[in-house]
Amino acid sequence: MADFSTSPSLDRVTSPNEPRPQVFVCQHRSCANNGSAETLQAFQRENLEAFDVLGCGCLGQCSSGPTVRVTSDETWYCRVKAADVPHIVDRHLKGGEPVEEKLNSRIHRMVWGMGNG
Ligand code: FES
Repeated sequence: MADFSTSPSLDRVTSPNEPRPQVFVCQHRSCANNGSAETLQAFQRENLEAFDVLGCGCLGQCSSGPTVRVTSDETWYCRVKAADVPHIVDRHLKGGEPVEEKLNSRIHRMVWGMGNG
């Protein structure tokens, strides 16, 4: 089994099946090249009590990174820069309303499309 304990950005990678809501911030190649380490740090600076903030491997949305997945309501964000994080935290993670302009349209279109036939 992989040991992530020595990696500063991946030191808390866990299973998405844990009960506590999680914010996953991809730290893999494409996202890393677009500043995902800064995005992760921005979430960590918020000291969220209700969420675990975790770096993770590729989430399969490489062309639109940095990719962020919020497990509590399965919201997927794309192109999330560190400057976007305070707004996402205030509006979504604390206020309960996803930030539409940062939603990953490929994923959310698929989800919405399923309900609309
Ligand atoms: S590299 Fe981040 S989603 Fe694939």
